[in-house]
Amino acid sequence: MTTTPRKILVTNALPYANGPIHIGHMLGYIQADIWVRFQKMRGHECHYMCADDAHGTPIMLKAQQLGIEPEQMIADMNRAHQADFSDFNVAFDHYYSTHSAENQELAELIYTRLRDAGHIKTKTISQLYDPTKEMFLPDRFVKGECPKCGAADQYGDNCDVCGATYAPTELKNPTSAVSGATPELRESEHYFFDLPAFEDMLKAWTRSGSLQEEMANKLNEWFEAGLQRWDISRDAPYFGFEIPDAPGKYFYVWLDAPIGYMSSFKNYCTTTGNADFDSYWQPDSDAEVYHFIGKDIIYFHSLFWPAMLKGANFRQPTNVWAHGFITVNGTKMSKSKGTFIMARTYLDHLDPDYLRYYFAAKLTSRIDDLDLNLTDFAQRVNSDLVGKVVNIASRCAGFIQKKFDGKLKADLNETNLLEEFQAAGDSIAEAFEKREFSRAMRDIMALADKANFYIAEEEPWQLIKDPANAERVHEICSIGINLFRLLMIYLTPVVPELAQRVQAFLNEDFNWDSHRSVLKDHAIAPFKALLQRIDMDNVTKMIDASKEANAANQPAASSSTANDELSKDPIAAEINFDDFAKVDLRVARIANAEHVEGADKLLKLTLDLGGETRQVFAGIKSAYDPESLIGQHTVMVANLAPRKMRFGMSEGMVLAAGPGGKDIFILNPHDGAQPGMRVS
Ligand code: 2FM
Ligand code: ZN
Repeated sequence: MTTTPRKILVTNALPYANGPIHIGHMLGYIQADIWVRFQKMRGHECHYMCADDAHGTPIMLKAQQLGIEPEQMIADMNRAHQADFSDFNVAFDHYYSTHSAENQELAELIYTRLRDAGHIKTKTISQLYDPTKEMFLPDRFVKGECPKCGAADQYGDNCDVCGATYAPTELKNPTSAVSGATPELRESEHYFFDLPAFEDMLKAWTRSGSLQEEMANKLNEWFEAGLQRWDISRDAPYFGFEIPDAPGKYFYVWLDAPIGYMSSFKNYCTTTGNADFDSYWQPDSDAEVYHFIGKDIIYFHSLFWPAMLKGANFRQPTNVWAHGFITVNGTKMSKSKGTFIMARTYLDHLDPDYLRYYFAAKLTSRIDDLDLNLTDFAQRVNSDLVGKVVNIASRCAGFIQKKFDGKLKADLNETNLLEEFQAAGDSIAEAFEKREFSRAMRDIMALADKANFYIAEEEPWQLIKDPANAERVHEICSIGINLFRLLMIYLTPVVPELAQRVQAFLNEDFNWDSHRSVLKDHAIAPFKALLQRIDMDNVTKMIDASKEANAANQPAASSSTANDELSKDPIAAEINFDDFAKVDLRVARIANAEHVEGADKLLKLTLDLGGETRQVFAGIKSAYDPESLIGQHTVMVANLAPRKMRFGMSEGMVLAAGPGGKDIFILNPHDGAQPGMRVS
């Protein structure tokens, strides 16, 4: 044992239960798994927890679209997530769900303690409500025109075109992204957590010097902007936990999500008896608690979460460690380029150790983004793991096997290099401890270069030609195998599958302290290939498979069926004939179509109704060149109340299908239909 055993609890951000794991997710899980494996190898008591984040409106709506109960959807997703993590050798000690009895109990306990301590306030707020779906709409489920620049089809929280942020109530001509209905403003009483009451404690934490620098800077910006009370309630219908003293009100998903860290651990403690829950979570606990998270969720973890814990008389995390995002080949992961790679697609084509090593070789303790350049990925893995590390064993093992009965030499004389490799263990351990994995990998590869240099200099393959050199060759190859062994001990947290094969080859189980010993007079197994080089063909196949998977999921792809469309966008609530008859649909000739200066999505159409013309702004610029439309017949809603837009009045609406972007298809009547004819 290197130091006194520590008690450590590690968590990763809980993935949402409405979609598969992709390689962008994998960065944080691989990072934490490497750190946990390192701690366990050092002999510390370390428990590694995760769970699915199973609540919230998107999950409720997705299950509705699939026509299944949310419980079934989250159970299916939980199995898929666990399989992906396990096949990447992310070895959680427990994987649970926030939709669990323990999580409900703990969420209620924390809420009740906060309420009883006066940290919960209520306030009536106005929010957009979908009268068709009979639900309040989260910001991302409202669409409309940006209040700043007028761009059409923007979400309720910010505009992709001008970058403005705003409240959904500020959107012009809002519609519900769930049903297409026009939302109404309705009032509802909401429950708020009094975050500002915890400002002093949060400031002290920020100044403690233990936080990542970028995180402390972010926190200081938020303090300067002023902390706000946090809205923790949502109205029914909602998939989550009902607030105990507020029927029809539910805990917002982000209230019970981090409590999932505790409840996963609670279930683990109860079912395995491997740890004592209270000794980790009581206020004076001497255990360490670390949360590995993505940089997008720092706010929740560095403000709300520690404050909630403090207010409910639980210990706070020892630290929260954020990582950046990944890019692939220098840009954001892209579905059309095939670089939006699902974990399963990767696993179908490549060994998980490759990606684990590549991430480790580039990860630091900072919150920087990390580029997965696929050419560099293959070169780096091939050159470092195969060309440098495994090569040492393959150069020495054959001689040990054939000439020395598979046994390493009993007395080694030239121990300088071995001692140097052993001495490096402490600083490599320090780099792992500080999450400076790239430094650890650099140091290990520098040692690998030395080992290869040593063998190349000694040339055992020449020496062996003269039987008088047998002992010397035995010495060189036994040192070579031991150098390889030391490198592999250090690499074990990073490449666990390769390390397993190496341990079988060396007839030994590694722990971190194994590096303090040297194998002498020790039988090793016959050498088998330990790691294949990455074949770029497999990388190409993975990209092609990702493109295909994406094409199969495209709403407008030619392969999509009516059923796919209906499950994505179910048929709206029934109307009677009179409702329909109110809509006056007319055949119109597109007399003119032109670009609108300053508008990114709109075309200005002049529609001829056979007697009168109408000016209509249509959000179809991404799909149509204006010239191509002139002279075509289409269908318009002729009695829609005129709407004032930033660029002028829009006097109606043309009918079109499709999800947006290039996939917008305006309607064309058959030949013979004349402008002005009513469509009924
Ligand atoms: O951002 C996300 O993917 C969230 N599901 C993370 C939750 S982490 C924790 F708080 F549960
Ligand atoms: Zn805008």
